[in-house]
Amino acid sequence: MSEKKQSALGILKFATIVCLFCSLFVSTAAVSLRGFQKQNAENEKKINILRAAGLAGAEERLSTEQINEKFAQIIPLVIDLRTGEPARDKNPLTYNMYNAAQSDNEGHALIDDPAGIKRIAKEGLAYVVADGDQISRLVLPIQGYGLWSTMYGFTALSFKDQQPTLTGITFYQHAETPGLGARITEPEWQEKWADIVPYDDNGNPHIDLVKVRSHEAKNQVDAIAGATLTSNGVEHMMNFWLGEQGYKPLVDHIRNGEITLANLRDASQAAIRQKTEQ
Ligand SMILES: Cc1cc2nc3c(=O)[nH]c(=O)nc-3n(C[C@H](O)[C@H](O)[C@H](O)COP(=O)(O)O)c2cc1C
Repeated sequence: MSEKKQSALGILKFATIVCLFCSLFVSTAAVSLRGFQKQNAENEKKINILRAAGLAGAEERLSTEQINEKFAQIIPLVIDLRTGEPARDKNPLTYNMYNAAQSDNEGHALIDDPAGIKRIAKEGLAYVVADGDQISRLVLPIQGYGLWSTMYGFTALSFKDQQPTLTGITFYQHAETPGLGARITEPEWQEKWADIVPYDDNGNPHIDLVKVRSHEAKNQVDAIAGATLTSNGVEHMMNFWLGEQGYKPLVDHIRNGEITLANLRDASQAAIRQKTEQ
């Protein structure tokens, strides 16, 4: 064999070994990092619930332990979206309403679909913050299509004087454009949602995202400049999830005093206990 051929074979062998080594390294890293990625995604969701609940600041950074410690103050619930009643047979700590929406037993296709989500679960998650024996805040998941992506977040309501009033909005997942639609995650824009009155006199959601807000109109929020399509998506998703197909039955029960903090606390504990005992 000539020297030239030998060195070509050597290079090929060397390249193959390097490729094998690299692919082994990349796949080992991907597998071993999967746990961290899952934990990070879970933390991101929880910290957004805490922010909506008023238990964490907009820019506050928290460790997993701190997140879990604060999260223990929240009452997690699974709600039957048709009746607005809390369910006692599904563990709110493990239930995933977006996975449930895709199943034939637990979800269904939407005919009236202003949020562009195609399917919805029969039961949704909700999180309650207590103030003494009163409900201080009700945190609700929201999901809807923007310009490029399905956006996932949370909104929160307070019930002072029986009047449901928004306290905020947060987003933990989306693929809108940085500097345009992605401004939905900026605290300066999210702050505009405080004190918005989302329901009209007939109890129907009527949130309106507008270019120039009239300060007399308590249902209007400033749209994001240059991102009207994302803003429209947020408007539609908020009115959808606060409406009849979303959490309106639950909101009405709380507003009318038909469901109290004690009822919700009891249902949450029963659902978590039952599933833990199984
Ligand atoms: C590369 C690119 C990315 C864009 N990303 C967004 C976006 O994330 N959200 C959005 O509403 N509009 C986005 N737009 C702008 C929309 O196409 C549209 O012009 C805009 O929503 C209109 O908003 P305006 O009426 O406030 O100008 C993008 C445009 C371009 C060219």
